Amino acid sequence: MARILTLTLNPALDLTLRLDQLQPGVVNRCHGFASHAAGKGLNVAQVLADLGHSLSVAGFLGRANAAPFEALMHRRGFHDLFVRVPGETRSNIKLAEADGRITDLNGPGPQVEAEHLEQLLEELAPLLAGHDAIVVAGSLPRGVAPEWFAGLLRRLRASGVPLAVDSSGAALSAALAVAPWLVKPNEEELAEACGSDLAAAVRGLRAQGIEHVLLSRGAAGVDWHGPGIALRAIPPRVAVASTVGAGDSLLAASLHGVLSGWPAERTLRLATAVAAQAVTQVGFGIHDREQLARLEAAVQLQSLEE
Ligand SMILES: Nc1ncnc2c1ncn2[C@@H]1O[C@H](COP(=O)(O)OP(=O)(O)OP(=O)(O)O)[C@@H](O)[C@H]1O
Ligand SMILES: [Mg+2]
Repeated sequence: MARILTLTLNPALDLTLRLDQLQPGVVNRCHGFASHAAGKGLNVAQVLADLGHSLSVAGFLGRANAAPFEALMHRRGFHDLFVRVPGETRSNIKLAEADGRITDLNGPGPQVEAEHLEQLLEELAPLLAGHDAIVVAGSLPRGVAPEWFAGLLRRLRASGVPLAVDSSGAALSAALAVAPWLVKPNEEELAEACGSDLAAAVRGLRAQGIEHVLLSRGAAGVDWHGPGIALRAIPPRVAVASTVGAGDSLLAASLHGVLSGWPAERTLRLATAVAAQAVTQVGFGIHDREQLARLEAAVQLQSLEE
């Protein structure tokens, strides 16, 4: 069992409303409602907990609606290191229609001030060395500039603890310049940060000192480039219930294999299966071990030319 710290700077309360067909501009009756404390670092933490690890979770939480997050952390036995900020953590509303179409309405997060940034750095600094890995995942809240984010990542990396980052846009570009130990962009995110020649982009990142690049390719699977590793995994075809948490599941299970000292093939097979299992569920996480074993057996692995 490893001790892992995940950072979610911009968590969200996911509110899913089910309705037959969305009609804009009129009252719509919904026949289902679910609310979940979420955010990429918290999602990664939950899958890592399912895989048997001990988790600390940090980031910024709006004080006004912290209860569902606190309930989740309590239920999962996570060590709560979140800095509380005034206001509400954002809500991300998902309107799920009967034909499978989903409309996302992502709210603004609370404003994070310089004092909160300082507090997070101060509180985390003495605790970093007690962890086997650090995962920073998701977007930046209002008030957090990519430059500050890069500074945070540099501080985390300087602790010597392996640092994994999953973000997008300006935050991903800032992160890549810091050269963390592992990054997990999807194809679109990598193209936006490094240009459309993805093979050249991956080579560039590796040359710059990023040890592991997990390039996720949606239903087509994932390419893993690491020290002595150049592997592609292709998942079996599965019925898609919701892709929420697929990337987070892939990252969590990859980390599990690497931290467990498994061979790359075994690691990637598990990670691809855990991600495929996530898409078959409305939520994510490892609940059905038999289904997971079937998915693992059906993952195809290929070696990639370096
Ligand atoms: N339809 C699918 N069938 C099987 N596996 C899938 C499917 N979609 C995604 N996956 C798996 O999940 C992994 C991550 O998906 P994707 O590349 O879409 O990540 P992402 O865009 O970062 O997702 P997220 O929305 O969670 O951030 C893929 O590498 C793949 O292994
Ligand atoms: Mg992603």
